[in-house]
Amino acid sequence: MGWLSLGLAVATGTGLLALYNREKRRKVERLHASSTVGMPSIGGPFKLVDHEGKVRTEKDLGGYSLLYFGFTHCPDICPDELEKMARAADMVQKKAKRSVTPVFVSVDPERDTVHQVKRYVRGFHEGMVGLTGSPEACEKAAKNFRVFYHKTDEEPNGDYLIDHSIIMYLLDPSGNFVAYYGRNHSAESMADDIARRIRSAPS
Ligand code: NI
Repeated sequence: MGWLSLGLAVATGTGLLALYNREKRRKVERLHASSTVGMPSIGGPFKLVDHEGKVRTEKDLGGYSLLYFGFTHCPDICPDELEKMARAADMVQKKAKRSVTPVFVSVDPERDTVHQVKRYVRGFHEGMVGLTGSPEACEKAAKNFRVFYHKTDEEPNGDYLIDHSIIMYLLDPSGNFVAYYGRNHSAESMADDIARRIRSAPS
């Protein structure tokens, strides 16, 4: 191989490599693009019982809804978050002139009876819906929303706590997931975001 042909081979090789890299980059970009098309799969169907004993699904929560998964025996975090959710719901009503239904979903169906849930939600907001059900139904609902929870060790008196994710989920009137809000959100920032989304949605 002479110097000239070696030079050509190197040049061609470099060109091919560049082309290959460009193609590879495009492919990776395409893969990323396709994985972010639509929403990550959060949410899904559930069938639970509300605080009045009525069967409710994600499709009949009454317009837009804001879901929070917790348990009525929670000593501090759940009450704080539900109080925040109630305030956010009131702010959305003022800002968007449309309502968002605050919804509490139990991850402790063994203790959270319909009666217990009714008493509990009434303490936060008159429009709050409380949902409970069979352990299987509650577990399925939590799983759909990627809510993790587990019982801590039971004390001798039978008392226990439940570690759980602290996230709120906004659903549209058809029960589809729209957005989620972590604990770092204030009632104000959630209400601003929800009102903006509700206002821009077709009514
Ligand atoms: Ni809690």
